[in-house]
Amino acid sequence: MAKKFQTALVTGGAGFIGSHIVDALIRRHIKVYVVDDFSTGQKKNVNPNAHVTRLSILNPQFVPLLQKIKPDVVFHLAAQINLRDSLQDPLNDAKINIFGTLTLIQECTKLGVKKIIYSSTGGPMYPEQARMPWSEKIHPQPISPYGISKRSAEMYFHYAFQVHGMPYVALRYANVYGPRQNAKGEAGVISIFADHFMKGNPMIIHGSGEQTRDFVFVEDVVRANISAMDRSAVGVFNIGTGKQTSINTIFRKLKKMTQSSIPERHDAPVMGEVIHSALSSREALIHLGWRPTVKLDQGLEKTVAWMHKR
Ligand SMILES: NC(=O)c1ccc[n+]([C@@H]2O[C@H](COP(=O)([O-])OP(=O)(O)OC[C@H]3O[C@@H](n4cnc5c(N)ncnc54)[C@H](O)[C@@H]3O)[C@@H](O)[C@H]2O)c1
Repeated sequence: MAKKFQTALVTGGAGFIGSHIVDALIRRHIKVYVVDDFSTGQKKNVNPNAHVTRLSILNPQFVPLLQKIKPDVVFHLAAQINLRDSLQDPLNDAKINIFGTLTLIQECTKLGVKKIIYSSTGGPMYPEQARMPWSEKIHPQPISPYGISKRSAEMYFHYAFQVHGMPYVALRYANVYGPRQNAKGEAGVISIFADHFMKGNPMIIHGSGEQTRDFVFVEDVVRANISAMDRSAVGVFNIGTGKQTSINTIFRKLKKMTQSSIPERHDAPVMGEVIHSALSSREALIHLGWRPTVKLDQGLEKTVAWMHKR
């Protein structure tokens, strides 16, 4: 079990999901190193018991640092995470998400790292017309640079495993939400709405609001990462609830929870936006023993409670 791993590196460990993984590893008495350039992550997210280096994974100093740390296991979350930004600047997206990831894979292979757990994505990976909830058996057809870069990274992981025996798990997340999510991003509709309600700022729902997403709570995502470390499974696994929830439902639930009187307003839909998405996690149940446990209402309450405290 976890005894195998004494030292972990978490890239992007100052970010939303990464910082929760850091906490979970420290609870298990694993020595944790964080490499993060703080482009979207924040120092205050990071557990004080972690060893933090502020550095981009693209910086030439990253490789010598990796050699010095010599981790047993790596959680790779550092990424260009914004789909719309990837449309504006595909080259920057590719530099971080493909070149940065490949550098990490090569170095980890040389160092004999025992496993890499990669944070991939579910929504942008699958063709929209495929039957939902989407399973890993559906052939990926990403059409955004972000989806393409995440898929490319998965393929390099597959290559490194096949050719060099470097074990990996790529977790394709649905829409992750929870405490520490940046309300300034584009993906975190729950944190954006909750933040607006709590500050009393009006907000606009793009389109009818009947578009749906599969919302998975961050604690469940952390458990998936820990199972991926503990289990011998290798490959790509969806991490979602399989359930679709509309943006209007999220708006109304959060409005009630925060006792807000902000009215529901809509504008034109965002061109090219995926209308519905949901992931089947059957394979994760079989191979990682993982299933989501946090119900949407519980997760929303925890998120709102954290925002209150903050
Ligand atoms: N949040 C979601 O719903 C979701 C869904 C699918 C996939 N993911 C993936 O999960 C991972 C974590 O996402 P998150 O939601 O926690 O976002 P986040 O922005 O909070 O975390 C990303 C972290 O990586 C750091 N970073 C970015 N570029 C870097 C670089 N070049 N070098 C070093 N550090 C760098 C950022 O400062 C940040 O701390 C990402 O790989 C993302 O693509 C997230």
